[in-house]
Amino acid sequence: MNSLSSTRLINIPKVHDERGSLAVIEKDIVPFEIKRVYYLYDVPSDSYRGGHAHKEQESVIIALSGSFEVIIDDGSESKRIMLNKPTQGLYIPTFIWREIENFSSGAVCLVLASTTYNEAEYLREYEDFKNQLSG
Ligand code: TYD
Repeated sequence: MNSLSSTRLINIPKVHDERGSLAVIEKDIVPFEIKRVYYLYDVPSDSYRGGHAHKEQESVIIALSGSFEVIIDDGSESKRIMLNKPTQGLYIPTFIWREIENFSSGAVCLVLASTTYNEAEYLREYEDFKNQLSG
């Protein structure tokens, strides 16, 4: 099973000039093949998102605009990470519980995912997640 040490921040290269900035995600900076991209937007600031882990899906979460906090939890410890740069992605492997909260106004949360959507591979109850870890 994965622990928090298998999560990491990924730097997304950017090209900046007087016309603005351009950030590029090429396949070699993401540790999986991207099968799906989705994004959260128009999120009320008091929203709570996430609240699940995945049996199969790995993901990278990016604050494309604004900011929010991601709480990651491996069943024995948890950590809160503020994402607020479009050039930084948080890599989350399988079997890590995540919650997302404290969205700023206008925040856009982009998720790169290693699988297509499959509800069956979600662990949406924290107790189920803990039980899976203990085998
Ligand atoms: P949910 O997993 O609750 O979102 P979050 O983890 O961001 O809080 O998903 C919200 C709804 O959207 C839920 O009914 C499942 C659906 N959904 C899809 O249909 N396809 C997808 O790729 C995703 C991520 C969610």
